[in-house]
Amino acid sequence: MDSASSTGLEWTRPHLLGLQELSAAEILLLLDQAAEFKRLHGAGETKLDLLKGVTVGNLFFEPSTRTRTSFSLAAKRLSADTVDFSSSGSSLSKGETFVDTARNIEAMGVTQMVVRHSSSGAPHLLATHLAAGIVNAGDGTHEHPTQGLLDLMTIREHRGGFQGLTVALVGDILHSRVARSNIWGLTKLGAKVVVCGPATLIPPYIEQLGVRVSYDLDEIVGEVDVINLLRIQAERQRSAFFPSIYEYAHFFGMNGDRIRRARHDVLILAPGPINRGVELTPEVADGPHSVILDQVTNGLFVRMASLYLLHRVSQRGARLAAR
Ligand code: CP
Repeated sequence: MDSASSTGLEWTRPHLLGLQELSAAEILLLLDQAAEFKRLHGAGETKLDLLKGVTVGNLFFEPSTRTRTSFSLAAKRLSADTVDFSSSGSSLSKGETFVDTARNIEAMGVTQMVVRHSSSGAPHLLATHLAAGIVNAGDGTHEHPTQGLLDLMTIREHRGGFQGLTVALVGDILHSRVARSNIWGLTKLGAKVVVCGPATLIPPYIEQLGVRVSYDLDEIVGEVDVINLLRIQAERQRSAFFPSIYEYAHFFGMNGDRIRRARHDVLILAPGPINRGVELTPEVADGPHSVILDQVTNGLFVRMASLYLLHRVSQRGARLAAR
């Protein structure tokens, strides 16, 4: 069932909190495991019993469509029980703290928790207070590791690897946890990264992460192999970072004119949700270069791999404790 990892490495981490702390070999191990689950699924093995008896909690303190649904489905495909928690309608409104809420859910026998929160570091806080394995499903502006992994998986499927590739991350880099996870993952695996957007949405320190900066999409559109179009994170912006959505779309939106000036084999990615007419036009979103729905499909297998590898670590820990 394990992937034939190209590195021969064993996964040892109890939590998946970000790609920053992972080695290239650990990232490849996750990608290889996800690819193995995808291969099995294609061969008709749609239900595996690898997490039988395990209960996975999906704790979402922020809205989600793709991440929440695919984690829930990933757990079910591995035969785990699932419990979904949403902050709206919960006892948080009566004053219960974030950590107490999670500890109460853990007390019901939940041993893996998938956590999305608007505060950067929230999953890390739970990792220090709970015994459960924690998977970061997006924390504030910090990281979204499984989104980074599914982006990597999609690029690897279409391009075979990362060496020699240049990937553009376009848009709201300042507020994007997806940008940060992509930067860590892509640079560790040997790709070149260029970030592009309005100057107000590019953090000043970003070049220290090993990326190039461009403020002009037209300058880079013809030279990159992959363009990942990041959403304008209006919910995290505390002031106006550009004059209007129309102006943003004019200068940084991917449209028919720009796709015709891009490489003939350019890949268009977007983490979603997409805002048609803002980050990209329908012609681009639904066109032949778009792999946006491939990303969503791969999200399921990346999340299966994450839950499975964390579970194996907890099983090993339990075996050692029983000796
Ligand atoms: N890409 C992503 O995280 O989408 P959701 O917010 O719908 O989970």
